[in-house]
Formats: sequence, C-alpha cells, structure tokens
Amino acid sequence: MESELAIHLRQLTKTFRTLRGPVEALRGLDLEVRRGEIFGYIGVNGAGKSTSIKILLGLIQATSGQAEVFGLPAGTLQARSKIGYLPEVATYHEFMTADELLRVHARLAGVESSQVSRRCDFSLEVVGLADRRRSRIGEFSKGMKQRFGIAQALVGDPPLLILDELTSGLDPFAQRDLRDILVRLRERKHTVFFSSHYMTEVESVCDRAAIIHGGRLQVCGTIPELTENRERVELLLEVPESAASQLSDVHLEVAEPADLRKASLPRELSDAFLARAIGLGCSVRRVSTVHRSLEEVFYDLTRRIDVETKAKV
Ligand SMILES: Nc1ncnc2c1ncn2[C@@H]1O[C@H](COP(=O)(O)OP(=O)(O)O)[C@@H](O)[C@H]1O
Ligand SMILES: [Mg+2]
Repeated sequence: MESELAIHLRQLTKTFRTLRGPVEALRGLDLEVRRGEIFGYIGVNGAGKSTSIKILLGLIQATSGQAEVFGLPAGTLQARSKIGYLPEVATYHEFMTADELLRVHARLAGVESSQVSRRCDFSLEVVGLADRRRSRIGEFSKGMKQRFGIAQALVGDPPLLILDELTSGLDPFAQRDLRDILVRLRERKHTVFFSSHYMTEVESVCDRAAIIHGGRLQVCGTIPELTENRERVELLLEVPESAASQLSDVHLEVAEPADLRKASLPRELSDAFLARAIGLGCSVRRVSTVHRSLEEVFYDLTRRIDVETKAKV
C-alpha cells in the first residue's frame, strides 16, 4: 500500500557552496504532509521553502537526510510522476493560447493522446479559465497566469500539487479565487502543498500548516493547534522617563491617556518583562491576555529565533 504521507522529510540538510562560502539552507528539516490535506508551508524569505521543494522534485540533491513522496524516494521518475508543480517564478510562452500551451504540458506530463483534450478542458474548467482558453497567455493578468499555472500543474492528474508562493503579489480578489480553487482540488482528493507568507490565507484554507525558519521546522499542526496556548499578554504601564530607554527592546506604544504605554508580549516573555519594568519604577495599570493570530505566532517565533541566534554569535 502507498504511504499515507504525501510528503515525508527526515533530517534534510542542504548546503550550497558559493563564492562567499557555504550557505546552510536546510539544517535538519523534518516534515510530514498527509494525503488529502491542504497544507500551508510558512516561512520568511530565505527560510528554505523553495530549496526543500526543489529537493522533493529532484531538481536539486539534498546534502543529507531523506525526502519521500508517497513513500517513494524524491527525485525518482516514479515520485516525480505523483507531483504537479507550480514554481515560484513561472514564465510562459506568452504568444501561445492557454489551450495550446496546456496541451504541450499535458504531453510533457505523459497524458495519453486520446485523453489530452479531456484533461485540458477539465483543468481549465477547475481554475475558471474555460472561457479564456483561446486567449494568448500574454493577455492574462497575474492572477490569471497563476490560475493557468495551477491548470498546468493539474493537467497530468497528479495526486500531489506543490505550489510555490502561489499568491505572492496578487490582489485580494485574485487571492480569494485561488483559495477557492485549492478547496476544489481537495474535494477532488488532491493533496495540496503550498508555500506562502500570507497568514490569513493559510488560516482560512489549510487543514494543517508548518512554520520553518533557518532551515528547520519550528512548529506544525492544525491552525487551532498552532494558535491555542500561544497567548499574548498586553500590559498597560506608567513608564517614567528614566525607565523608557532601558526598556527599548520592547515596543512601547503610546496609549490613552497619553502618559501611559502599552506593551504586547508573548506569554512566555511577559513575566520577566513585567518584573524588569516594575524594578525600573514602572507602575502597572492593567494586565490582559489576548489570543494570538497565526500572524502573531509567526512573528513572535521568527523574531525570537533571530534574537536567540544573534545572542549566540
Ligand atoms: N542556488 C543557490 N545557491 C546558493 N544559495 C542558495 C541557492 N538557493 C537558495 N540559496 C540560499 O538558501 C537559503 C534558502 O533559500 P530558499 O529555499 O529559496 O528560501 P525561501 O524559498 O524560503 O525564501 C537562502 O539563504 C538562499 O539565499
Ligand atoms: Mg522561495
């Protein structure tokens, strides 16, 4: 039986040799994506998302560790045939019509001649471009090009779709169209793995998500799992002039009335900050706990790691 895991990465490392010296893009990355889920892959620029995706596709070799696609070693023809891929930067032959170019991709994906028309029609239908099939790609907006990109990834009917930075640079309407398409793909039993740095998008559409940073997995789970128990503490303080400069590591927002300052911190850092603030003569007016959104979890996590990494250097 095929593996229940669509993607399985174990202790994956990748070091690029460059003129500036080695660049450790992945440092022991673990990841499990289950069959049939929409999975959001989150990380700042340079986190290692595209590198791990390219290893999954066999476009580059890992330095060490394992990468599997439905239990098959990544990069093999068998594994590759399970994946439809939309690269981070996709360029198309702009003079060709959507239908013409999709036919080329269908043939490249190994679709039998007798099935090419049917698969192309179906893929254009799913992404809402059926009525633009005879338009040249050059006439398409960026959102339409991304939709075409999904049709191109889908045309060979692969069980796994890997979409790198699917919605970067698109307007909110185009983003919403793409989210709707992802849900349609899940209904059709495709596993959808996409990288993003738009948290609201990940929150609204994904079954599970992972945050990677510095080439390692930081957290992984359902959206409630990622955001529950990850509260922020909001503090309303009177901050004497003398204390303000010594608390400059935390953003102190001006609050009403104007002599008060508001600080918002992850739960795990708030006690120490509060003790320090009181020690410097601050007076506490209010302490409240608020839930963190995925965006705040992401922000706190990546910032904390960056601070810790700098501290070690
Ligand atoms: N071909 C390459 N040669 C050298 N360094 C690279 C190469 N590709 C990626 N990197 C470096 O690896 C790190 C991870 O990059 P990448 O996987 O593209 O991140 P992301 O997709 O999350 O933005 C970055 O520091 C990037 O500069
Ligand atoms: Mg990338």
